[in-house]
Amino acid sequence: MFNIKARLLALGLVASLGASDAAGLGFGEVDVVFPRNGTFGPMTLTPIVFAFQNPAAIDQLYPYVKYGLWPADLPTGNKTLSTKLVDMHLPNTTGPVSFLQASIANTLNTENEWEFVWRMDWTNCSTLTNTTSDDERGLVEKPEVTVGKSWIGHSIRFTTEKGAKQPNLTALTASDKCGDTSALAFNVTKTLRPQSGYYKGKKCAVLESPTPTAAPCKVSIAPAAASSISSTLTAGQCIAATPAISCPAKEGGAVINEVTSQLKWWAIGVLLVGKSLI
Ligand SMILES: *[C@@H]1O[C@H](CO)[C@@H](O)[C@H](O)[C@H]1NC(C)=O
Ligand SMILES: *[C@@H]1O[C@H](CO)[C@@H](O)[C@H](O)[C@H]1NC(C)=O
Ligand SMILES: *[C@@H]1O[C@H](CO)[C@@H](O)[C@H](O)[C@H]1NC(C)=O
Ligand SMILES: *[C@@H]1O[C@H](CO)[C@@H](O)[C@H](O)[C@H]1NC(C)=O
Ligand SMILES: *[C@@H]1O[C@H](CO)[C@@H](O)[C@H](O)[C@H]1NC(C)=O
Ligand SMILES: *[C@@H]1O[C@H](CO)[C@@H](O)[C@H](O)[C@H]1NC(C)=O
Ligand SMILES: *[C@@H]1O[C@H](CO)[C@@H](O)[C@H](O)[C@H]1NC(C)=O
Repeated sequence: MFNIKARLLALGLVASLGASDAAGLGFGEVDVVFPRNGTFGPMTLTPIVFAFQNPAAIDQLYPYVKYGLWPADLPTGNKTLSTKLVDMHLPNTTGPVSFLQASIANTLNTENEWEFVWRMDWTNCSTLTNTTSDDERGLVEKPEVTVGKSWIGHSIRFTTEKGAKQPNLTALTASDKCGDTSALAFNVTKTLRPQSGYYKGKKCAVLESPTPTAAPCKVSIAPAAASSISSTLTAGQCIAATPAISCPAKEGGAVINEVTSQLKWWAIGVLLVGKSLI
């Protein structure tokens, strides 16, 4: 799928994007690599994998991401988003793409239809164009920057069926499948620093409107990276009190603890392949 030339081109693209991303401006995107719409084999350990394109830009939106996964026919009132994936900051904002992964054990190991819901909250700063009458009378300190808050939720439905393939992160991000996902794109045009309030003195992104079209196909996960994600999730299970999978016998905690510290956040030198290069 990706020949050597495309890989080399892609690496060049990574390097150039890496340089221009330093300021955290420009196009940024949140992509759900998995779960996604389709039919997959029942899974003991379900990977939850998000990609953040230009994480330095996304970080300036003070992102808050949570998700939940349920049988599709569960009453709506019972579907409460409970698992927090991102809380205000991305731990690693280096590089053109960073990944965040988690897993759900023992839920999807049967045949069923499922719903995965994720929600992202973000801030959006703007300068006040008009003063209010209170401002004019000097009753309140005039805020120069307004911090807006927005959120959006997305739902993904999929099916588990015996005999179907397990999710393969490489195949799911390949050119024929990569567009078939849930994504949220932003264009950070500049940053402001509010002079009061909770975000006082902090950088806050100004977003271009309308929001740009998402480009999930810029993210691809090479087989080595996919197996690294998978082994990180597996290792995470193996430190659980009751692992859902069979694990090697524990021999002293040192090595395992090191894996744990990498578990929540994980970034790789992933190939960033623009469609135009293929
Ligand atoms: C939905 O939630 C209610 C209240 O917590 C509970 O009684 C009920 O069993 C739940 N239904 C399902 C299908 O889980
Ligand atoms: C950001 O805020 C501006 C000004 O309030 C608004 O026009 C725009 O729709 C917002 N965009 C996003 C993505 O939140
Ligand atoms: C600012 O105030 C003027 C006069 O009240 C009004 O015409 C204009 O639409 C306002 N602009 C914005 C962006 O609210
Ligand atoms: C994919 O999503 C569509 C629209 O939500 C849904 O009708 C379809 O059943 C889903 N496919 C699978 C295999 O779950
Ligand atoms: C995943 O898919 C890629 C490309 O389609 C393939 O090279 C790789 O072997 C697959 N991995 C597994 C674990 O099946
Ligand atoms: C982001 O906004 C800037 C300034 O308006 C614009 O020049 C650029 O083309 C936009 N980028 C994307 C990907 O929409
Ligand atoms: C952050 O991501 C970069 C690029 O992907 C990587 O080189 C670096 O090791 C990561 N840092 C940490 C602390 O994980």
